[in-house]
Amino acid sequence: MNQSELPPIETIFNPHSDTYATDPVPGCLALLSRGALVWYEPWQAWIMTQMDDIMRCWKEEYLSSDFYDWEFAPQRPPEDQWSNFEKAMIGHSLLADHDHHRLIRRVTAPAFSRNVVDKIQSKIEPDIKMLFDELGKPGEFDYIDAIAQHIPFISITRMVGIPEKYWPAIRRVILTFTETWNPTISDERREAARADSNRAIDIIREVIAERRDQPERDDFLSTLLAIEVENEGFNEWDIVTLVLALIGAGADTTLVAQQWSVYSLLKNPDQISKALRSAESFANAFNEISRWGLSSKMGFARYAPDDMKLLGKSVRKGQMILMMPHLKDYDPAYYDEPERFDVERKFDPDILFGYGPRYCIGAALAKRQLFITLSELFERFPNLSLKNEPERDGSDHNAVTFKSLLLSTGVSS
Ligand code: HEM
Repeated sequence: MNQSELPPIETIFNPHSDTYATDPVPGCLALLSRGALVWYEPWQAWIMTQMDDIMRCWKEEYLSSDFYDWEFAPQRPPEDQWSNFEKAMIGHSLLADHDHHRLIRRVTAPAFSRNVVDKIQSKIEPDIKMLFDELGKPGEFDYIDAIAQHIPFISITRMVGIPEKYWPAIRRVILTFTETWNPTISDERREAARADSNRAIDIIREVIAERRDQPERDDFLSTLLAIEVENEGFNEWDIVTLVLALIGAGADTTLVAQQWSVYSLLKNPDQISKALRSAESFANAFNEISRWGLSSKMGFARYAPDDMKLLGKSVRKGQMILMMPHLKDYDPAYYDEPERFDVERKFDPDILFGYGPRYCIGAALAKRQLFITLSELFERFPNLSLKNEPERDGSDHNAVTFKSLLLSTGVSS
């Protein structure tokens, strides 16, 4: 059928609908077949659908990652009116200027090495064990409530080195951080998130000041303070931005990942031992969990730096372009037997955590944190099963999640 005779794509692909939460596959495949760059009226955005184009965009960075370049973003205020939030997000942002971004990634690379992740593992393992100790041996429990929702915050604050005395105050204000640049929510909600972030920045600066007076410790903040001494282009605001970015980018993503990892493995119990054989086998299994679950709704936002011709379309300066690598996840031309869950499936290229200069900083931490939590779960409860088919929650702006995840442990209580 001629493209112009097809029904509008938003009548088939609507990530905020119950239909999508129940089965996103038909919508994703329909969008994938509509062309390389598809206008999506409800979001006033272009959607980039094809992997080759997405890879090139990731690699060459010809589009802007700066939220303030979006046509509907709030006005970029003049420098003398910047609050702490603008200082962190405009002045020294990971999200803004490409050259500064590359400098930050280069100088901070040692802070994310394998060696550092090994050390973080030894720090978060006792916290995770403690969560399971507190849970005890119930006959059934809600995995999200008892375990999953606590893990991201614990592991990132431990990784960064935020002392426990600050946890209650920062927990209240930090989890809304990603909403400050989410294009799909209301201005009021974004403004509230910005106020929370300003409070979070105050706390982070307090922690930094305290750490400057203390002997060096074995955590991310101490590593960054050492990097600051050695690198002129890197200062306290870069540290603040990075800490915010770690908390912002690492919280929602891993909470969703926890839920889908447990769900997928319990739906395919023959794969559990293969997935958890080692940290490396889990890293591959997690790709399959994410593909098979297809929980993404949005993709990754970029903004047109100028009026431009892109993939045959005329794109205006400031328009949003969403890269959606997940559209391919059930495409039989891309994956053999996409319905089959196989934790040993090969992923080449492996792009779950992005690609190129903005490859996910927290990839190693995310995979390790999931691996140790799931290993602990299945070791403590070898007869685990889903109590029922969990109800899906379509209300999250970024991903399909579950309202609860009730597990039967097989332990008689
Ligand atoms: C399941 C978990 C996660 C997934 C699937 C994931 C995926 C991704 C992807 C695809 C990108 C690239 C985004 C883009 O191109 O716009 C990214 C960037 C990023 N991620 Fe993750 N991530 C996860 C967990 C984490 C964690 C735990 C942290 C921090 C501890 C983290 C920190 C970041 C940061 C700071 C960036 C921005 C990097 C930059 O712009 O240079 N992520 N992530």
